[in-house]
Order: sequence, then C-alpha cells, then structure tokens
Amino acid sequence: MQLIKDISELREIRRNWQNSAKVIAFVPTMGNLHQGHLNLVREAKKQADIVVVSIFVNPLQFGPDEDLEAYPRTLENDRYLLEDLGVDALFMPTTNDIYARGLEQQTFVEVPGLSYMICGASRPGHFRGVATIVCKLFNMVQPNLAFFGEKDFQQLQVIKAMVTDLSMNLKVFGVTTTREDDGLAMSSRNHYLSGIERKLAPTMYIKMQELVDEIHGGRRDFSRLTQEYKMQLAKLGFNPDYLEIRNVENLLQPGHEDQHLVLLAAAFLGKTRLIDNMQISL
Ligand code: PAF
Repeated sequence: MQLIKDISELREIRRNWQNSAKVIAFVPTMGNLHQGHLNLVREAKKQADIVVVSIFVNPLQFGPDEDLEAYPRTLENDRYLLEDLGVDALFMPTTNDIYARGLEQQTFVEVPGLSYMICGASRPGHFRGVATIVCKLFNMVQPNLAFFGEKDFQQLQVIKAMVTDLSMNLKVFGVTTTREDDGLAMSSRNHYLSGIERKLAPTMYIKMQELVDEIHGGRRDFSRLTQEYKMQLAKLGFNPDYLEIRNVENLLQPGHEDQHLVLLAAAFLGKTRLIDNMQISL
C-alpha cells in the first residue's frame, strides 16, 4: 500500500494510474476504522482496479462545541487494517495541505435545501463542511467511483446532489449500514459510550424497527407516530434530537403517493450522539 502524505505526491501517482486506464475507486474516511469502513473498501475492491482510501479528520464539518479534538485517531491500526485488505493507496493529508489559505478564507461548497434540514438543522454548517471536503478530495483523487456508508444517509444524499449539481464525472455508491450483533449501527463515536450506555444503545434500533412495523401495519399518522416513539426513547434514557419519516430521495415530508420512505433518527445517550436510519417500502 502506498502511503501518500501530500497533494503533489498524490497527483503524480494519480497520473501513472491514468496512463494505465484503470478504474479508480475512492473511500473517504476520518479514520478510526471499523467493519463499516472495511465493508466500503470491500465493495470498492469488487468494482475497481485501484482503491484509494483517505483519512482526514475534517475540522470544517465540526461545530464549535463538537468533538473535533476528542475524535478518535488510530492511524497505526487503520494502516494495518487497510494494508491487510489490499488497499492500493492511503492518502493522509495534513490540515495545512488541505486548507492551504486557512479555514477562515476557505471557499465553500454548499448544497442548499438538503443541507439545512434534519441533521443540518441540528448541526449548522456541518454539511457545508462535508460537501467542501468531499469536493476537494474528489478533485485531488479524481476517482471514477466513490463509496459512502448509508448510515450517514443525509450525508450520502447531499454528496449525490453535489455530484449532480456540479456535473462531476464519477459515480457515488451507498453501502448498507454495518451493525454490531445486537443491531447497533457501527460508528467511531460508539467508543464514547460508557458500559451502561453501550448496553442501552441498540434499543434505539429496536424502537425504530417497532415504529416501522407500525407503518407496515397500516399507520400513516407519521407526525404522531414519531412523537410517540420520541417519548418512548426519552423514557428509556435517550435524549432524542429528531425522529423523522421522509421521502427517501429528497428527504422532504412524504406525500400520500410516496412509496419509498426513510426513517431518520438521532439521539444523545449521555454525551454521545447516535444516528441511524431505516428505509421503508410501502
Ligand atoms: O463520513 C465521514 O467519515 C466524513 O463525513 C467524510 C465523508 C469522510 C468527510 O469528511
């Protein structure tokens, strides 16, 4: 596996790949890799000749009171895992390399609408930070294919919209959420959970399944339904941020004719913010 530490080195290696006309897949990450990330890499390997992974904890997507400093950094182990999977190149740029003119002066990429609702309403500026770094990384790596986890469902929709809006020449794939045996969606932030919180955490997924079962059983009063389940989660010890049923494509409130929906959830357990989602076909 080639270790690439700056943009000029990446560009040179990228030129060589281009000359041999290979399909290049890209998996952007913030590191602290778990099976969810590794499944993105496995999926990428199935569809491409060359797989590039990046590890960059992007300051632009963290709010002032969020966990940028505390975000787990486990580079040595990440490198070992990626090498073992047969990744071709690991790109690990520095913040100075990425934001050469400083964060204050940085040009932004903003996907309106999708970026401001649901998670975007709770985390102002978050999706602008995500769209900006992903656009920059796409410009650097110039992949043919890119892979993202469906766990961050709204992020995936924002990135797909950006790729369409900016006529980017690549295909974006969403990969099914990888779960622990008890159903908890894998996330680097799960490390923040205490022992007791970790035992309680999968209950959010169980409650989401129950809610979806009620919809399959015929309930269509979505607003009341999500309100009821928010209260149940609160009684169990969660501090729910949102529980929303939306159209799966545009994440708007669903109309009567919509057949494909998604249940999106975010809740705090202690200081840890858990997110999850579940698609619903009526
Ligand atoms: O999902 C993530 O890990 C990050 O948001 C991403 C896509 C790597 C951008 O920093």
